[in-house]
Amino acid sequence: MTTDTTPKDPFHRRVLENKAGLFAIVTTIAISIGGIVEIVPMFTAAAGPERPDWVSPYTPLEVAGRDIYIREGCYLCHSQMVRPMRAELLRYGEWSRAGEYRYDHPFLLGSRRIGPDLHRVGGKYPDAWHYEHMRDPRSTTPGSVMPSYRWLLDGRIDATDVQASVNGLRRVGVPYADTAFVDIVSSLVRQGTGIVGRLAEAGIESEPDREIVALIAYLQRLGIDGRRAIEAGLTAPTGSQ
Ligand code: HEC
Repeated sequence: MTTDTTPKDPFHRRVLENKAGLFAIVTTIAISIGGIVEIVPMFTAAAGPERPDWVSPYTPLEVAGRDIYIREGCYLCHSQMVRPMRAELLRYGEWSRAGEYRYDHPFLLGSRRIGPDLHRVGGKYPDAWHYEHMRDPRSTTPGSVMPSYRWLLDGRIDATDVQASVNGLRRVGVPYADTAFVDIVSSLVRQGTGIVGRLAEAGIESEPDREIVALIAYLQRLGIDGRRAIEAGLTAPTGSQ
């Protein structure tokens, strides 16, 4: 048997009903304010279209490295999205802004983190560290479960493939001014030679067209434009954490 707790006399019943109505209204207002506070920063923080110049397209060598990243399935174990939460900010640095993905076709946000997030990995380690880590992850990080990718040390990138990728990106809207073959090749050689020079300083011999060199170029680029823009106040960071 249930007990009916509704007041029997009409006066008390009306008072109770009014309170319920008031409660519903106050709750609706509170939820609306909360919702607006949550949602508005998503638009103000995007800072994409009105500031088109704070992130630039990947260079041809970085495009080649990115293609290798996709081919090897690195995104299956690594995300590229630092979330605005304290633990992530302390571990990875600035949280990822929407505009940073402007030239990412396809997005490589990832959905699992077997390894750490890589969106701010650019500049975190020297080139030689990446070389050694890809050759044998256990050599730099004891106990690592990441597989070795030592074939990248010998594999070579093909400038024709890189040109095709750059052309493809241009077709989907990435503003490459020039995709002439000679310019792609000279850009690949220039950037690759820089990395090979830095590897040589660490006693590692490589060549500018090796796959590992392209992958290092890509990894060292990750998150750099965004970080620079955030430091210069070009994006519109919100008060999130
Ligand atoms: C099976 C899962 C797995 C795959 C696939 C994988 N990784 Fe990793 N990765 C890890 C784990 C675990 C770590 C952390 C331990 C370490 O540093 O090796 C890591 C660490 C890293 C780090 C160092 C990050 C940091 O901030 O210290 C980089 C860079 C990296 N991986 C790049 C790659 C690239 C590039 C590929 C593809 C060629 C790749 N990983 C594929 C699991 C993976």
